[in-house]
Formats: sequence, structure tokens, C-alpha cells
Amino acid sequence: MTRTLIEIPPAFGDFSQPKRYRIWYGGRGSSKSWTIARVLVALAAARPIRVLCCREFQNSIADSAKKLLADQIESMGLSPWFTITDTSIRSRVGSEFLFKGLARNVQGIKSTEGIDICWVEEAQTTSQMSLELLIPTIRKAGSELWFTYNPQNDDDPVHKLMHSLESDADALVRKVNWQDNPWFPDELNAERLRLLKTDPEAYEHIWGGECRTISEAVIFRSRVVFEAFDTPDDARLYFGADWGFSQDPTALVRCFIQDGALYIDYEAFGRGVELDELPAMFDRVPQSRDWPILADCARPETISYMANRHRFRISGADKWPGSVEDGVERLKAFTKIVVHPRCPNVAKEFRMYAYKVDKHTGDILPKIEDKWNHGIDALRYALNGIIQNRRKMPSFAGYKSRTR
Ligand SMILES: Nc1ncnc2c1ncn2[C@@H]1O[C@H](COP(=O)(O)OP(=O)(O)OP(=O)(O)O)[C@@H](O)[C@H]1O
Ligand SMILES: [Mg+2]
Repeated sequence: MTRTLIEIPPAFGDFSQPKRYRIWYGGRGSSKSWTIARVLVALAAARPIRVLCCREFQNSIADSAKKLLADQIESMGLSPWFTITDTSIRSRVGSEFLFKGLARNVQGIKSTEGIDICWVEEAQTTSQMSLELLIPTIRKAGSELWFTYNPQNDDDPVHKLMHSLESDADALVRKVNWQDNPWFPDELNAERLRLLKTDPEAYEHIWGGECRTISEAVIFRSRVVFEAFDTPDDARLYFGADWGFSQDPTALVRCFIQDGALYIDYEAFGRGVELDELPAMFDRVPQSRDWPILADCARPETISYMANRHRFRISGADKWPGSVEDGVERLKAFTKIVVHPRCPNVAKEFRMYAYKVDKHTGDILPKIEDKWNHGIDALRYALNGIIQNRRKMPSFAGYKSRTR
């Protein structure tokens, strides 16, 4: 038996507790494949385990994780402990790695006995049929199912499985992105920055680990610039706040308007912020105690607590049927929207905020997804006096025709 020390990025979570399911998903280059391969190699060197490595499509062993595992064995200095043949990997303590494709391989999978760990790599392509075949095949006492994948679509079977297990005590579910990879290569970082500039909507899918959005559905497509700027001393600042409920974050944003463009220069975001923590969160945005703040009027008691107990100049913003759409139209009317790099949450929302898409036809619908909108809602509130209720006002043409 050998003990191997390996470095596991903290975002991957705790490997010491048994779990029926472990799922790591996220954007490219987050070290999912390398980390899981190294953990499996270390386990296989220490005690006899049978590991089934699968992917949906494996036409030959060259499509499998075998080469990755073999490379890790070598770079970890464990070659003397393993025998690697054309089709298999075995360890001196009696561990064995098997490699199988899931698609069109019912008998091959069903006849696999005695698996301790099944690792499904690139699991975004796994079909529902494959999952239904695989899960009850892994049945040895204490056996575990591990999945790694790059999210593609909301309704992909493994992504739905992940959501169903998120708060299951017998599952470890972790999102890991490039920031979590301590060895993130310079080449990939250059690619990441290039895409951020050229195709911000694709960026959140490829590097942010979000499901693919149809880029035509993204509301502020090509309207938003992500770059640093200085705030003029004489700027008229606007502050807006959106209150978080359960999983949603509370958001405070600060912005100003210059030459017809909107600049967002500060943000504070917090999930699960308790009432008594709100003042400290608001204080993260400079001058939030000096300027008026407009907030979501759905929580009058929170507004009154911040105004009366903590002396923020805060009041509720107007809401009316259609106020979200009116706000979006007004935001689109700015010549551009510039988000400072200090505001990563607002930046991400602008890249993700989208119209609903008909799943069957792919048509973009005239309805806005109720997601990625906390900073954007806060912006709408901040600009309360500037965003008009268009439904209340007669159009100029209509006004003239009535007075004629
Ligand atoms: N333990 C490690 N030691 C050294 N380098 C590492 C390690 N883990 C990851 N890397 C580096 O990070 C790169 C990306 O890792 P990896 O291929 O595992 O990411 P991934 O999350 O599987 O990416 P993808 O989503 O594209 O499949 C590797 O090519 C390697 O250069
Ligand atoms: Mg990988």
C-alpha cells in the first residue's frame, strides 16, 4: 500500500466523507478532469478498488479517460505501482480501471459487477436512458457515482440530476470554474480574456459554467462595455437596492449618467444577508449614506429599518404593471452602459439577462426570464425618476390629435 499526497483545490469539497453522488460542474479549464483522475489514482494505489470510467460515446479506448489516468500516474511518480496495458490499468494492490461507453451498450454496462466508483466524464452528453441504466448497476455496498461536466442546456439529464441532488445530504455538488484551478494555464487565460472582449454572452457559458443562452435572447447584447473609468467629482450619483429572498442576493448599486451613457461604478452583493447586516453591506458602496437610495418597495419594513434606525436616505421606488419592460427599454436607450470591473455581479447579469425562449421552437418570446436580475432591478430602482411609466402618458402624436 502507498499513500500519495495530492493537492485538491478547495472548491472540489471534502473527499473524506462517503457520498453516493459527487458532481463537479463548471466552465472550461477548472481542473475537473485532472483533479478527479489524480484522486482516483491515489485511491487505487492505496487500496484495491474497481473504478468504472464511462462517457456517453466511446468508440475506442482512445476516447476514454485511460490516457489521462496513465499520464497522471506517471506525473505523480506512481508508475512502479501500476501496470498499464493497451486496454486496462491495474495497480499493485489489486485495483482495476475499466473503460466503457454508455450509449448503445446495455449489456456491457449491466454486466459490470463490483464497482466501487463510477466516474462519468463529460457527462453533459449523457442521455436519460444511460443514466437510468447506469445508476442501478452501481450497487456494491458503499459504491459511489461521480460526474464531471461542462453545463450545456438547462434540461440536460445530468444537469437536472445535479439540481435534484443539490441539497441532498448523500451528495456532494460543487460548481468549479477557472478561478478555482490553481494551475490555470496562461494559454487558457489568454483565451478567456479574448472571449470576454469579443463575445461576452458566450463567455459566461464557456468560462463561467452557465448553461448556453441563445445569444439573440440576451437583452443587453452588445450594449454593455466592461472597462475601468474614473467617476467625475461632480457626478450626480444614483443608488438602487434590491432585497434578496431565500437564495436570491441582496444588491446595492451605484451609477451615474454622462453624455447619454450609463456608468455603474460600485456594487455590493450578498446572499442570505440578515437585517442587522444590511448597514455594513451598504457601507461597502462609497457615499451610500449621503445620497438618496431607491429600493424595492416590496419590503417596506426593511426600508423603514434602514431609514429610521440607520439614517440611510432610502425610500421605495415606484412599480407599475410593465415597469420591468419600461425599465429595460429605458436602459437600452442609453448610448452605452459601462460596467466597472469592481462590479463583477452586475457585469455577469448583463451578460446573462435574457428573454424567455420557447424550448421546442427556439423562438424568443416577449417575456423576460426572472433570473439574473438583482443588480439590474436595483439599477431600475436607482433610475426611478428617469424611467417613465409609458402606459400612463399619452404619446405626443396622440396628444396632438386630441387637441386639434
Ligand atoms: N493538479 C494539477 N497540477 C498541475 N496542473 C494542473 C492540475 N490540475 C489542472 N492542471 C492544469 O489545468 C489545466 C486544465 O485542467 P483540466 O483539463 O483538468 O480542466 P477541466 O475542468 O477538465 O477542463 P474542461 O472543462 O475543458 O474539460 C490542465 O491542462 C493543466 O494544465
Ligand atoms: Mg475536462
